Amino acid sequence: MVEDSLRRKGLTIRTMQESDLPSIVKIERLSFSTPWSETSFFNEIYKQRSIPKVAVIDDRIAGYICANHVADEGHILNLAVHPDFRGKGIANTLVENILEELKENACRFLYLEVRASNNAARKLYEGFGFSVVGTRKEYYTEPKEDAVIMMLRL
Ligand SMILES: CC(C)(COP(=O)(O)OP(=O)(O)OC[C@H]1O[C@@H](n2cnc3c(N)ncnc32)[C@H](O)[C@@H]1OP(=O)(O)O)[C@@H](O)C(=O)NCCC(=O)NCCS
Repeated sequence: MVEDSLRRKGLTIRTMQESDLPSIVKIERLSFSTPWSETSFFNEIYKQRSIPKVAVIDDRIAGYICANHVADEGHILNLAVHPDFRGKGIANTLVENILEELKENACRFLYLEVRASNNAARKLYEGFGFSVVGTRKEYYTEPKEDAVIMMLRL
């Protein structure tokens, strides 16, 4: 499996920490037209019920995921992998890791929003069994676009 070979190459998933923020913000800016600020990530590190994780390869931050949970509902808020590391199974490993943690926190439903045209992300989530349960009209800007709401029963 890709994930096994990544582990052999030294991929680790761990909780996000303040010293990761400069690398995360760089990846965020390479990945989104309306990137989160450093403060947004900082807040995820300290908010109750937030689960912010990073993927590290050879001491380099390769990607990250932010999720949270309220009662039995979890939300994936952000996910990105550095362009140099895409297509190697890192997002899959990050999502797998967060699913385990949300299950441990008694979550039964997991939601996320994704740009309608973001086929790579939609395929990734479909691979875990997420399905489309709705849309939010013109949820995104730059460019204006609908969000697709996806849900997974855990
Ligand atoms: C979407 C993203 C996180 C995927 O990260 P990644 O580490 O390259 O993904 P993985 O290698 O783990 O691939 C997992 C699955 O995603 C899908 N996928 C990933 N890249 C894809 C691409 N370019 N085209 C189609 N499907 C793709 C595939 O289903 C893949 O499974 P497979 O390898 O068995 O086919 C990455 O492209 C990214 O950071 N994009 C910019 C930010 C973004 O869109 N974030 C998601 C916001 S909701």
